[in-house]
Amino acid sequence: MTSPPRTVRPEILDELPPTDARAIRSRRDLRRVNRVMGSCGILSRAMRRALASSSRHGPLRILELGAGDGSLALHIAARLAPAWPAAELTLLDRQPLIPETTGIAFAHLGWTLRLLTVDVLEWARAPTQRQLTGRWDLILTNLFLHHFEADALRELLSAVADRCDIFIACEPRRSLPALLGSRLLPALVVSRDTLHDAVVSVRAGFRGQELSDVWPARGAAWVVEERPAGLFSHLFAAARGDAV
Ligand SMILES: C[S@@+](CC[C@H](N)C(=O)[O-])C[C@H]1O[C@@H](n2cnc3c(N)ncnc32)[C@H](O)[C@@H]1O
Repeated sequence: MTSPPRTVRPEILDELPPTDARAIRSRRDLRRVNRVMGSCGILSRAMRRALASSSRHGPLRILELGAGDGSLALHIAARLAPAWPAAELTLLDRQPLIPETTGIAFAHLGWTLRLLTVDVLEWARAPTQRQLTGRWDLILTNLFLHHFEADALRELLSAVADRCDIFIACEPRRSLPALLGSRLLPALVVSRDTLHDAVVSVRAGFRGQELSDVWPARGAAWVVEERPAGLFSHLFAAARGDAV
């Protein structure tokens, strides 16, 4: 059976101001959704695998795109910090969403936190020399790429490929189990907004080699892996050379 094509529709959470009560509720729901999807484990394992063959000695330079309230990044950092006790982490989102307590928690882990409040396409279009850092060792993202139609996605991934050595994305999988899972979210007592956004996200999600198809393979030799992960997720990992 062929799956329906991707459809990208606006998500309610993206339209609400950060301090709106509905947005606060949705972000709390999102933390639970990430737990159910196993996002932290999926991303941490993929990052460990990719970093295992990294020859880097100084602090890791990591960027997360569409980082939301930073809670997922904090859980990932807690898992990686024993192996990578020093890292410079930048969290990019177009809304300022990181609570002060999250910054303090990163500091306790020994990770330096920087915040970048900007639309990601503006970041992608800015010349590389105007970036915070010339290159990132690793760029990651979770539940984010599905917001973009093919042309914007191609533009974004092209900037990502120019600016990092490893890229890892965990996205909704456009599959029947994921659609059923999103319809069963009321069992987690989530809001109507979260329910709406979950269904929209799955329909905009990925399957097969859809991200590999828009990944810019030119120039450096990238090793690319794209596959289902967990029950509901779709993992894409690209590394220069043989780091995946
Ligand atoms: C579904 S949430 C995921 C947040 C986080 N990655 C997580 O898993 O908890 C998507 C995030 O992307 C951000 N976002 C959406 N469109 C964006 C854009 N064009 N540029 C930057 N951030 C964007 C939203 O503000 C939101 O925080």
